[in-house]
Amino acid sequence: MAPIALLPFLILNLAVATAAPPLRPRFYEKTCPEAEHLVRDVIKKNMEREPRSAASVNRLQFHDCFVNGCDGSLLLDDTSNMLGEKLSLSNINSLRSYEVIDEAKETLEGVCPGVVSCADILIMAARDAVVLSGGPDWEVKLGRQDSLTASQKDADDIMPSPRANASYLIDLFRKFNLSAKDLVALSGSHSIGKGRCFSIVFRLYNQSGTGRPDPAIDPIFRENLDKLCPRGGDGNVTGGLDATPERFDNQYFKDLMNGRGFLNSDQTLFTYPKTRQYVRLFARNRDEFLKAFVEGMIKLGDLQSGRPGEIRQNCRVVNSRPVDELM
Ligand code: HEM
Ligand SMILES: *[C@@H]1O[C@H](CO)[C@@H](O)[C@H](O)[C@H]1NC(C)=O
Ligand SMILES: *[C@@H]1O[C@H](CO)[C@@H](O)[C@H](O)[C@H]1NC(C)=O
Ligand SMILES: *[C@@H]1O[C@H](CO)[C@@H](O)[C@H](O)[C@H]1NC(C)=O
Ligand SMILES: *[C@@H]1O[C@H](CO)[C@@H](O)[C@H](O)[C@H]1NC(C)=O
Repeated sequence: MAPIALLPFLILNLAVATAAPPLRPRFYEKTCPEAEHLVRDVIKKNMEREPRSAASVNRLQFHDCFVNGCDGSLLLDDTSNMLGEKLSLSNINSLRSYEVIDEAKETLEGVCPGVVSCADILIMAARDAVVLSGGPDWEVKLGRQDSLTASQKDADDIMPSPRANASYLIDLFRKFNLSAKDLVALSGSHSIGKGRCFSIVFRLYNQSGTGRPDPAIDPIFRENLDKLCPRGGDGNVTGGLDATPERFDNQYFKDLMNGRGFLNSDQTLFTYPKTRQYVRLFARNRDEFLKAFVEGMIKLGDLQSGRPGEIRQNCRVVNSRPVDELM
């Protein structure tokens, strides 16, 4: 017998626990046929306003899906009794363009209220960001539900630091059934977007506590980075993650081969033998990269928590429900 005090929780769970149907393409074909089209328009409009928003939106998929599955938990604002993921170590002062997802959600709520989850919007948006940056297009599986909670601690524990090395990243990705090849292909997202000086000063001036720079950085590239990010300078200044940060292409891998990776976690993919072969392959063959990237994004999008969910009305807050008042 459940103790009486647990009853409100049980009721809450019954109220929202709908067995999650399998994800599938064209999930909203009948219930919101314009959904994918409308999300793409919002991403496009925002890119015209600010090109970097594409990269920022793309990154949200990784940070949502690795922490308890692709459930929109990333998008929840903190509340007085829940510390969410936005202020976690990897996300604070770093993740951005949440308002682009809000805009897509508002648009869809205007057309088909209560139908399209924030978790799905994020998956569509991450794909659209790639397409609109000159990358591949693919069909996304949909039908996710939005989480009822979020965990700052889980995000802190899971999300990798820019200092991470390839062997750590291989092990981390394996926990999500993602291979070394998936790791390298998905890191190719860094073909677009920017990173902060805060994320690289250690490797410019004190790699692994040696008091020396990372020896894997090309000397001329390092001079440029030193100018961008002087010792003791503004950690919020940003630089491109590859030489063409607005184009989704395989330049990122060519840069890694030339010691021109921005992040330590990027450059180490070339330093380390098990991942180097894929960096070489993707640098040489753009189509191999695009194919592996799409496969990786689909696998990343398949991660699910199995927990009960809902279709949020506002991506930043869980829907209010009467049972809340009992608690
Ligand atoms: C392999 C492990 C990864 C690490 C350690 C990592 C780390 C980082 C870091 C440190 C930044 C710059 C943040 C800042 O300085 O504020 C960044 C940016 C970015 N990351 Fe990753 N990342 C990884 C994998 C991924 C994956 C799998 C994706 C997408 C599928 C992704 C997409 C992006 C994008 C698009 C940006 C640029 C965002 C912007 O310009 O706002 N990253 N990442
Ligand atoms: C990679 O990082 C892990 C964890 O931070 C560390 O234990 C390991 O020694 C590093 N490996 C190499 C080859 O530097
Ligand atoms: C990885 O695959 C195994 C075997 O198919 C499965 O049991 C496990 O739940 C998967 N893990 C994740 C995080 O998807
Ligand atoms: C470099 O890092 C080591 C270990 O973290 C630290 O003890 C040392 O003070 C740092 N040196 C500089 C110049 O910041
Ligand atoms: C970057 O800017 C934010 C917000 O203005 C500030 O709180 C933070 O301390 C800055 N971070 C760094 C590394 O300088």
